[in-house]
Amino acid sequence: MTTLTKPKHLAGLLSATALVLGFALTAQPALAAGIADTKHNLGSSNGKNINYVTSAALNGEICVFCHTPHGSDTSAAAPLWNKQLPSGTNYTTYASLQSGTMDGVVGKPGAISLACLSCHDGAQAMDNIINAPGSGQYDANGGGAAGRGYAWTGANQTAGKLNSNTVAMLGTDLSNDHPVGVEYCGGPVGGNIGTCRDADFVLPTAAAGQMATGPWWVDTGDGTSGSRQKTDMILYAAKADRTDGVGPQVECASCHDPHSTNGLFMRRTAGNANSVTCLSCHVK
Ligand code: HEC
Ligand code: HEC
Ligand code: HEC
Ligand code: HEC
Repeated sequence: MTTLTKPKHLAGLLSATALVLGFALTAQPALAAGIADTKHNLGSSNGKNINYVTSAALNGEICVFCHTPHGSDTSAAAPLWNKQLPSGTNYTTYASLQSGTMDGVVGKPGAISLACLSCHDGAQAMDNIINAPGSGQYDANGGGAAGRGYAWTGANQTAGKLNSNTVAMLGTDLSNDHPVGVEYCGGPVGGNIGTCRDADFVLPTAAAGQMATGPWWVDTGDGTSGSRQKTDMILYAAKADRTDGVGPQVECASCHDPHSTNGLFMRRTAGNANSVTCLSCHVK
Protein backbone atom coordinates (compact mmCIF):
# COMPACT_ATOMS: atom_id res chain seq x y z
CA MET A 1 0.00 0.00 0.00
CA THR A 2 2.78 2.37 0.97
CA THR A 3 4.53 1.71 -2.35
CA LEU A 4 1.31 2.68 -4.05
CA THR A 5 0.57 5.81 -2.03
CA LYS A 6 4.11 7.09 -2.39
CA PRO A 7 4.14 7.25 -6.18
CA LYS A 8 0.58 8.53 -6.07
CA HIS A 9 1.60 11.27 -3.69
CA LEU A 10 4.66 12.01 -5.83
CA ALA A 11 2.54 12.07 -8.97
CA GLY A 12 0.26 14.54 -7.26
CA LEU A 13 3.23 16.71 -6.34
CA LEU A 14 4.63 16.46 -9.84
CA SER A 15 1.38 17.44 -11.50
CA ALA A 16 1.01 20.29 -9.00
CA THR A 17 4.55 21.42 -9.89
CA ALA A 18 3.79 21.04 -13.58
CA LEU A 19 0.68 23.12 -13.04
CA VAL A 20 2.69 25.87 -11.36
CA LEU A 21 5.41 25.67 -14.01
CA GLY A 22 2.81 25.53 -16.75
CA PHE A 23 1.22 28.64 -15.33
CA ALA A 24 4.58 30.40 -15.14
CA LEU A 25 5.36 29.41 -18.71
CA THR A 26 2.01 30.43 -20.13
CA ALA A 27 1.84 33.60 -17.99
CA GLN A 28 4.74 35.12 -19.94
CA PRO A 29 3.13 35.12 -23.40
CA ALA A 30 -0.17 36.11 -21.80
CA LEU A 31 1.51 39.19 -20.29
CA ALA A 32 3.20 40.02 -23.57
CA ALA A 33 -0.20 39.71 -25.25
CA GLY A 34 -1.66 42.30 -22.81
CA ILE A 35 -2.17 45.82 -24.08
CA ALA A 36 -0.29 45.02 -27.31
CA ASP A 37 -3.22 42.86 -28.34
CA THR A 38 -5.90 45.51 -27.70
CA LYS A 39 -7.34 48.57 -29.40
CA HIS A 40 -5.04 50.64 -27.17
CA ASN A 41 -2.03 49.56 -29.22
CA LEU A 42 -1.93 52.46 -31.65
CA GLY A 43 1.62 51.79 -32.81
CA SER A 44 0.86 48.94 -35.17
CA SER A 45 -1.88 46.71 -36.48
CA ASN A 46 -2.69 43.75 -34.26
CA GLY A 47 -5.86 42.50 -35.88
CA LYS A 48 -8.04 44.21 -33.20
CA ASN A 49 -7.28 47.85 -33.61
CA ILE A 50 -8.27 49.43 -36.82
CA ASN A 51 -6.66 52.76 -35.96
CA TYR A 52 -2.89 52.91 -35.93
CA VAL A 53 0.09 55.00 -36.98
CA THR A 54 1.99 53.84 -40.02
CA SER A 55 4.86 56.37 -39.71
CA ALA A 56 8.19 54.64 -39.15
CA ALA A 57 9.10 57.37 -36.62
CA LEU A 58 6.93 55.57 -34.06
CA ASN A 59 8.63 52.25 -34.72
CA GLY A 60 5.63 50.29 -33.44
CA GLU A 61 5.82 51.79 -29.93
CA ILE A 62 2.80 51.19 -27.67
CA CYS A 63 3.22 53.09 -24.39
CA VAL A 64 4.36 56.39 -25.95
CA PHE A 65 0.77 57.36 -26.87
CA CYS A 66 0.02 57.65 -23.16
CA HIS A 67 3.25 57.56 -21.10
CA THR A 68 6.77 58.96 -21.24
CA PRO A 69 9.71 58.10 -18.98
CA HIS A 70 10.69 61.81 -18.81
CA GLY A 71 9.06 65.21 -19.14
CA SER A 72 5.50 64.09 -18.41
CA ASP A 73 2.44 66.27 -17.72
CA THR A 74 2.14 66.15 -13.92
CA SER A 75 -1.33 67.73 -13.91
CA ALA A 76 -2.74 64.39 -15.11
CA ALA A 77 -3.83 61.88 -12.48
CA ALA A 78 -2.46 59.18 -14.79
CA PRO A 79 1.23 58.50 -14.12
CA LEU A 80 3.97 59.86 -16.43
CA TRP A 81 1.28 61.18 -18.79
CA ASN A 82 2.52 62.04 -22.29
CA LYS A 83 -0.40 64.04 -23.67
CA GLN A 84 -1.80 67.50 -23.33
CA LEU A 85 -4.97 67.36 -21.22
CA PRO A 86 -8.15 68.98 -22.49
CA SER A 87 -9.67 71.65 -20.26
CA GLY A 88 -12.29 70.22 -17.91
CA THR A 89 -14.61 73.15 -18.49
CA ASN A 90 -15.35 72.10 -22.09
CA TYR A 91 -17.70 69.29 -21.12
CA THR A 92 -21.45 69.07 -20.63
CA THR A 93 -21.77 66.84 -17.57
CA TYR A 94 -24.44 64.45 -16.28
CA ALA A 95 -25.47 67.22 -13.88
CA SER A 96 -27.11 69.04 -16.79
CA LEU A 97 -29.87 66.37 -16.82
CA GLN A 98 -30.93 67.41 -13.30
CA SER A 99 -31.73 63.81 -12.46
CA GLY A 100 -34.11 63.83 -9.51
CA THR A 101 -32.52 60.73 -7.97
CA MET A 102 -28.88 61.86 -7.85
CA ASP A 103 -27.34 62.29 -4.39
CA GLY A 104 -23.70 63.04 -5.16
CA VAL A 105 -22.36 66.24 -6.68
CA VAL A 106 -21.29 65.90 -10.32
CA GLY A 107 -18.41 68.23 -11.08
CA LYS A 108 -16.03 68.61 -13.97
CA PRO A 109 -14.31 65.39 -15.10
CA GLY A 110 -11.27 64.74 -12.90
CA ALA A 111 -7.71 64.61 -14.22
CA ILE A 112 -7.81 60.85 -14.78
CA SER A 113 -10.97 61.13 -16.89
CA LEU A 114 -9.39 64.01 -18.80
CA ALA A 115 -6.54 61.64 -19.64
CA CYS A 116 -9.03 59.31 -21.36
CA LEU A 117 -10.88 62.21 -22.92
CA SER A 118 -7.64 63.54 -24.37
CA CYS A 119 -8.32 60.89 -27.07
CA HIS A 120 -11.95 59.91 -26.53
CA ASP A 121 -13.57 63.33 -26.92
CA GLY A 122 -12.43 63.31 -30.55
CA ALA A 123 -11.27 66.92 -30.25
CA GLN A 124 -7.54 66.21 -30.02
CA ALA A 125 -5.42 64.00 -32.25
CA MET A 126 -4.31 60.73 -30.68
CA ASP A 127 -0.74 61.53 -31.70
CA ASN A 128 -0.65 64.55 -29.41
CA ILE A 129 2.56 63.38 -27.72
CA ILE A 130 4.60 65.61 -25.38
CA ASN A 131 7.83 63.62 -25.56
CA ALA A 132 7.97 61.81 -28.91
CA PRO A 133 10.45 58.95 -29.50
CA GLY A 134 14.07 59.90 -30.11
CA SER A 135 16.42 62.61 -28.96
CA GLY A 136 15.21 66.20 -28.52
CA GLN A 137 11.56 65.56 -29.50
CA TYR A 138 9.99 67.43 -26.55
CA ASP A 139 7.01 69.74 -27.15
CA ALA A 140 5.11 70.83 -24.01
CA ASN A 141 1.85 71.06 -26.01
CA GLY A 142 2.37 67.77 -27.84
CA GLY A 143 1.72 69.47 -31.17
CA GLY A 144 -1.59 70.95 -29.97
CA ALA A 145 -5.01 69.67 -31.08
CA ALA A 146 -3.62 68.49 -34.43
CA GLY A 147 -0.93 66.40 -32.70
CA ARG A 148 2.37 65.44 -34.30
CA GLY A 149 0.96 64.80 -37.77
CA TYR A 150 1.97 61.16 -38.10
CA ALA A 151 0.38 59.07 -40.86
CA TRP A 152 -2.70 57.12 -39.67
CA THR A 153 -4.81 54.33 -41.07
CA GLY A 154 -8.28 53.15 -39.99
CA ALA A 155 -11.91 54.16 -40.60
CA ASN A 156 -12.64 55.32 -37.03
CA GLN A 157 -10.17 58.21 -37.18
CA THR A 158 -9.71 61.31 -39.30
CA ALA A 159 -6.22 62.81 -39.25
CA GLY A 160 -5.57 60.89 -36.04
CA LYS A 161 -8.73 62.11 -34.24
CA LEU A 162 -11.45 59.59 -33.31
CA ASN A 163 -14.47 60.29 -35.52
CA SER A 164 -18.20 59.59 -35.24
CA ASN A 165 -17.88 56.21 -36.98
CA THR A 166 -17.25 54.81 -33.49
CA VAL A 167 -19.29 55.13 -30.29
CA ALA A 168 -15.89 55.27 -28.56
CA MET A 169 -15.79 58.89 -29.72
CA LEU A 170 -17.70 60.21 -26.71
CA GLY A 171 -17.54 63.84 -27.80
CA THR A 172 -17.71 66.70 -25.31
CA ASP A 173 -21.33 66.06 -24.27
CA LEU A 174 -20.97 63.60 -21.40
CA SER A 175 -24.61 63.89 -20.29
CA ASN A 176 -25.41 60.61 -22.08
CA ASP A 177 -22.56 58.77 -20.34
CA HIS A 178 -22.34 57.26 -16.83
CA PRO A 179 -21.47 60.19 -14.54
CA VAL A 180 -17.76 60.86 -13.95
CA GLY A 181 -16.25 63.49 -11.66
CA VAL A 182 -19.02 62.42 -9.29
CA GLU A 183 -18.87 61.82 -5.54
CA TYR A 184 -19.00 58.14 -4.67
CA CYS A 185 -22.15 56.94 -2.87
CA GLY A 186 -23.70 60.38 -2.57
CA GLY A 187 -20.70 61.68 -0.64
CA PRO A 188 -19.71 60.97 2.95
CA VAL A 189 -21.99 61.64 5.94
CA GLY A 190 -20.72 64.61 7.94
CA GLY A 191 -17.46 64.55 5.99
CA ASN A 192 -16.55 61.12 7.38
CA ILE A 193 -15.11 59.30 4.38
CA GLY A 194 -15.99 55.63 4.52
CA THR A 195 -19.66 56.39 5.16
CA CYS A 196 -22.34 56.84 2.47
CA ARG A 197 -25.18 59.33 2.24
CA ASP A 198 -26.78 57.01 -0.31
CA ALA A 199 -27.29 53.58 1.25
CA ASP A 200 -27.68 51.89 -2.15
CA PHE A 201 -23.89 51.58 -2.49
CA VAL A 202 -21.16 49.18 -1.37
CA LEU A 203 -19.03 51.05 1.23
CA PRO A 204 -15.69 52.41 -0.01
CA THR A 205 -12.52 51.07 1.60
CA ALA A 206 -8.91 52.15 2.20
CA ALA A 207 -5.80 50.71 3.83
CA ALA A 208 -5.68 50.76 7.65
CA GLY A 209 -5.48 54.35 8.94
CA GLN A 210 -5.85 55.86 5.46
CA MET A 211 -9.59 56.37 5.18
CA ALA A 212 -9.27 60.12 5.62
CA THR A 213 -6.55 60.57 3.00
CA GLY A 214 -6.98 57.68 0.56
CA PRO A 215 -6.23 56.06 -1.78
CA TRP A 216 -9.71 54.48 -1.77
CA TRP A 217 -11.33 51.70 -3.69
CA VAL A 218 -14.44 49.53 -3.72
CA ASP A 219 -13.36 46.00 -3.00
CA THR A 220 -14.58 43.53 -5.63
CA GLY A 221 -13.05 40.35 -4.25
CA ASP A 222 -11.54 39.59 -7.66
CA GLY A 223 -8.06 39.75 -6.12
CA THR A 224 -6.89 39.76 -2.50
CA SER A 225 -9.31 41.60 -0.24
CA GLY A 226 -7.86 44.24 2.09
CA SER A 227 -5.36 45.58 -0.43
CA ARG A 228 -5.98 47.54 -3.59
CA GLN A 229 -5.83 45.45 -6.77
CA LYS A 230 -6.21 46.61 -10.35
CA THR A 231 -9.40 44.52 -10.46
CA ASP A 232 -10.95 46.64 -7.67
CA MET A 233 -13.00 49.74 -8.50
CA ILE A 234 -10.51 52.55 -7.93
CA LEU A 235 -11.84 55.83 -6.49
CA TYR A 236 -9.97 59.08 -7.07
CA ALA A 237 -9.24 62.13 -4.93
CA ALA A 238 -11.56 65.11 -5.39
CA LYS A 239 -10.26 67.69 -7.82
CA ALA A 240 -7.99 70.35 -6.38
CA ASP A 241 -10.17 73.11 -7.83
CA ARG A 242 -13.26 71.53 -6.32
CA THR A 243 -15.38 73.68 -4.07
CA ASP A 244 -18.54 71.58 -4.18
CA GLY A 245 -18.11 67.79 -4.01
CA VAL A 246 -15.83 66.12 -1.50
CA GLY A 247 -14.65 62.59 -0.88
CA PRO A 248 -13.65 59.82 -3.26
CA GLN A 249 -14.80 60.26 -6.87
CA VAL A 250 -15.84 57.94 -9.68
CA GLU A 251 -13.89 58.56 -12.89
CA CYS A 252 -13.42 56.62 -16.16
CA ALA A 253 -10.63 54.52 -14.67
CA SER A 254 -12.83 53.49 -11.72
CA CYS A 255 -14.49 50.98 -14.04
CA HIS A 256 -11.87 50.71 -16.79
CA ASP A 257 -8.21 49.68 -16.76
CA PRO A 258 -6.76 50.93 -20.05
CA HIS A 259 -4.30 48.00 -20.19
CA SER A 260 -6.84 45.30 -19.40
CA THR A 261 -7.91 42.51 -21.73
CA ASN A 262 -11.15 41.96 -19.74
CA GLY A 263 -13.94 42.80 -22.15
CA LEU A 264 -13.97 46.48 -23.04
CA PHE A 265 -10.97 47.37 -20.85
CA MET A 266 -12.99 46.52 -17.76
CA ARG A 267 -11.36 46.20 -14.32
CA ARG A 268 -13.46 43.19 -13.31
CA THR A 269 -12.03 39.89 -14.51
CA ALA A 270 -15.45 38.93 -15.90
CA GLY A 271 -15.78 42.24 -17.76
CA ASN A 272 -19.40 43.16 -17.21
CA ALA A 273 -20.85 39.65 -17.50
CA ASN A 274 -23.93 39.36 -15.25
CA SER A 275 -23.50 43.11 -14.67
CA VAL A 276 -20.69 42.44 -12.17
CA THR A 277 -19.14 45.83 -12.87
CA CYS A 278 -22.39 47.68 -12.07
CA LEU A 279 -23.02 45.56 -8.97
CA SER A 280 -19.51 46.23 -7.66
CA CYS A 281 -20.75 49.65 -6.53
CA HIS A 282 -24.54 49.73 -6.81
CA VAL A 283 -26.57 47.65 -4.34
CA LYS A 284 -29.54 46.85 -6.59
C1 HEC B 1 -4.30 54.32 -23.94
C2 HEC B 1 -3.45 54.89 -22.93
C3 HEC B 1 -2.43 54.01 -22.27
C4 HEC B 1 -1.49 53.21 -22.86
C5 HEC B 1 -1.28 52.96 -24.34
C6 HEC B 1 -0.68 52.68 -21.80
N1 HEC B 1 -1.13 53.13 -20.59
FE1 HEC B 1 -0.35 52.76 -18.77
N2 HEC B 1 -1.79 53.89 -17.86
C7 HEC B 1 -2.75 54.59 -18.53
C8 HEC B 1 -3.61 55.25 -17.57
C9 HEC B 1 -4.80 56.13 -17.88
C10 HEC B 1 -3.11 54.90 -16.28
C11 HEC B 1 -3.71 55.25 -14.92
C12 HEC B 1 -4.71 54.18 -14.60
C13 HEC B 1 -5.18 54.11 -13.18
O1 HEC B 1 -5.44 55.14 -12.54
O2 HEC B 1 -5.32 52.97 -12.70
C14 HEC B 1 -1.96 54.06 -16.51
C15 HEC B 1 -1.18 53.50 -15.50
C16 HEC B 1 -0.02 52.78 -15.72
C17 HEC B 1 0.83 52.28 -14.67
C18 HEC B 1 0.61 52.44 -13.17
C19 HEC B 1 -0.61 51.73 -12.70
C20 HEC B 1 -0.59 50.25 -12.95
O3 HEC B 1 -1.58 49.75 -13.51
O4 HEC B 1 0.42 49.56 -12.66
C21 HEC B 1 1.86 51.63 -15.28
C22 HEC B 1 3.03 50.93 -14.61
C23 HEC B 1 1.65 51.71 -16.72
N3 HEC B 1 0.48 52.42 -16.94
C24 HEC B 1 2.49 51.18 -17.68
C25 HEC B 1 2.23 51.14 -19.04
C26 HEC B 1 3.11 50.53 -20.04
C27 HEC B 1 4.43 49.86 -19.74
C28 HEC B 1 2.51 50.70 -21.26
C29 HEC B 1 2.97 50.18 -22.61
C30 HEC B 1 3.20 48.74 -22.72
C31 HEC B 1 1.28 51.43 -21.02
N4 HEC B 1 1.15 51.67 -19.67
C32 HEC B 1 0.41 51.84 -22.00
C33 HEC B 1 -2.92 54.66 -19.89
C34 HEC B 1 -2.19 53.95 -20.82
C1 HEC C 1 -4.00 57.55 -27.04
C2 HEC C 1 -5.44 57.61 -27.26
C3 HEC C 1 -6.33 56.93 -26.24
C4 HEC C 1 -6.37 57.16 -24.88
C5 HEC C 1 -5.55 58.13 -24.06
C6 HEC C 1 -7.40 56.30 -24.36
N1 HEC C 1 -7.97 55.58 -25.38
FE1 HEC C 1 -9.47 54.23 -25.21
N2 HEC C 1 -9.40 53.86 -27.22
C7 HEC C 1 -8.57 54.50 -28.13
C8 HEC C 1 -8.84 54.00 -29.46
C9 HEC C 1 -8.14 54.42 -30.74
C10 HEC C 1 -9.86 53.04 -29.34
C11 HEC C 1 -10.53 52.23 -30.46
C12 HEC C 1 -11.69 53.06 -30.97
C13 HEC C 1 -12.41 52.44 -32.15
O1 HEC C 1 -11.79 52.24 -33.19
O2 HEC C 1 -13.63 52.16 -32.02
C14 HEC C 1 -10.18 52.98 -27.92
C15 HEC C 1 -11.15 52.14 -27.39
C16 HEC C 1 -11.54 52.14 -26.07
C17 HEC C 1 -12.59 51.33 -25.54
C18 HEC C 1 -13.48 50.35 -26.32
C19 HEC C 1 -12.77 49.06 -26.56
C20 HEC C 1 -13.49 48.14 -27.51
O3 HEC C 1 -13.07 46.97 -27.57
O4 HEC C 1 -14.42 48.56 -28.22
C21 HEC C 1 -12.68 51.63 -24.19
C22 HEC C 1 -13.61 51.00 -23.20
C23 HEC C 1 -11.67 52.62 -23.90
N3 HEC C 1 -10.99 52.89 -25.06
C24 HEC C 1 -11.50 53.19 -22.66
C25 HEC C 1 -10.51 54.12 -22.36
C26 HEC C 1 -10.31 54.68 -21.04
C27 HEC C 1 -11.18 54.40 -19.85
C28 HEC C 1 -9.23 55.50 -21.13
C29 HEC C 1 -8.56 56.25 -19.99
C30 HEC C 1 -8.21 55.46 -18.82
C31 HEC C 1 -8.78 55.49 -22.51
N4 HEC C 1 -9.58 54.63 -23.22
C32 HEC C 1 -7.74 56.24 -23.02
C33 HEC C 1 -7.62 55.45 -27.81
C34 HEC C 1 -7.35 55.95 -26.54
C1 HEC D 1 -19.38 53.34 -13.87
C2 HEC D 1 -18.55 52.57 -14.73
C3 HEC D 1 -18.01 53.26 -15.95
C4 HEC D 1 -17.47 54.51 -16.05
C5 HEC D 1 -17.30 55.54 -14.96
C6 HEC D 1 -17.07 54.66 -17.42
N1 HEC D 1 -17.35 53.53 -18.15
FE1 HEC D 1 -16.92 53.20 -20.09
N2 HEC D 1 -17.95 51.44 -20.01
C7 HEC D 1 -18.43 50.85 -18.86
C8 HEC D 1 -18.97 49.56 -19.19
C9 HEC D 1 -19.57 48.57 -18.21
C10 HEC D 1 -18.81 49.40 -20.59
C11 HEC D 1 -19.19 48.18 -21.43
C12 HEC D 1 -20.55 48.31 -21.98
C13 HEC D 1 -20.84 47.16 -22.93
O1 HEC D 1 -20.51 46.02 -22.60
O2 HEC D 1 -21.38 47.43 -23.99
C14 HEC D 1 -18.16 50.61 -21.08
C15 HEC D 1 -17.85 50.86 -22.41
C16 HEC D 1 -17.05 51.90 -22.85
C17 HEC D 1 -16.63 52.12 -24.21
C18 HEC D 1 -17.00 51.26 -25.41
C19 HEC D 1 -18.32 51.74 -25.96
C20 HEC D 1 -18.92 50.78 -26.97
O3 HEC D 1 -20.12 50.49 -26.81
O4 HEC D 1 -18.21 50.33 -27.87
C21 HEC D 1 -15.82 53.23 -24.21
C22 HEC D 1 -15.10 53.83 -25.40
C23 HEC D 1 -15.76 53.71 -22.86
N3 HEC D 1 -16.53 52.89 -22.05
C24 HEC D 1 -15.00 54.80 -22.46
C25 HEC D 1 -15.16 55.43 -21.23
C26 HEC D 1 -14.61 56.72 -20.90
C27 HEC D 1 -13.69 57.54 -21.78
C28 HEC D 1 -15.05 57.02 -19.65
C29 HEC D 1 -14.88 58.32 -18.89
C30 HEC D 1 -15.36 59.53 -19.58
C31 HEC D 1 -15.85 55.88 -19.17
N4 HEC D 1 -15.89 54.95 -20.17
C32 HEC D 1 -16.45 55.80 -17.92
C33 HEC D 1 -18.38 51.39 -17.60
C34 HEC D 1 -17.93 52.65 -17.28
C1 HEC E 1 -17.26 52.70 -9.38
C2 HEC E 1 -18.62 52.64 -8.87
C3 HEC E 1 -19.75 52.53 -9.86
C4 HEC E 1 -19.90 51.57 -10.82
C5 HEC E 1 -18.98 50.42 -11.13
C6 HEC E 1 -21.13 51.88 -11.50
N1 HEC E 1 -21.69 52.99 -10.98
FE1 HEC E 1 -23.43 53.86 -11.56
N2 HEC E 1 -23.09 55.39 -10.32
C7 HEC E 1 -22.08 55.47 -9.39
C8 HEC E 1 -22.22 56.69 -8.64
C9 HEC E 1 -21.32 57.15 -7.50
C10 HEC E 1 -23.34 57.37 -9.17
C11 HEC E 1 -23.95 58.69 -8.68
C12 HEC E 1 -25.14 58.33 -7.80
C13 HEC E 1 -25.70 59.43 -6.96
O1 HEC E 1 -24.96 60.33 -6.59
O2 HEC E 1 -26.93 59.35 -6.66
C14 HEC E 1 -23.85 56.53 -10.22
C15 HEC E 1 -24.96 56.84 -10.99
C16 HEC E 1 -25.60 55.97 -11.82
C17 HEC E 1 -26.87 56.22 -12.47
C18 HEC E 1 -27.64 57.53 -12.41
C19 HEC E 1 -28.49 57.61 -11.19
C20 HEC E 1 -29.37 58.84 -11.13
O3 HEC E 1 -29.92 59.03 -10.04
O4 HEC E 1 -29.52 59.58 -12.11
C21 HEC E 1 -27.20 55.08 -13.12
C22 HEC E 1 -28.46 54.83 -13.92
C23 HEC E 1 -26.11 54.14 -12.93
N3 HEC E 1 -25.17 54.71 -12.14
C24 HEC E 1 -26.04 52.89 -13.49
C25 HEC E 1 -24.90 52.10 -13.51
C26 HEC E 1 -24.75 50.94 -14.36
C27 HEC E 1 -25.80 50.38 -15.29
C28 HEC E 1 -23.49 50.47 -14.12
C29 HEC E 1 -22.79 49.34 -14.82
C30 HEC E 1 -22.69 49.47 -16.27
C31 HEC E 1 -22.89 51.33 -13.11
N4 HEC E 1 -23.78 52.32 -12.79
C32 HEC E 1 -21.63 51.14 -12.56
C33 HEC E 1 -21.09 54.54 -9.19
C34 HEC E 1 -20.88 53.42 -9.95
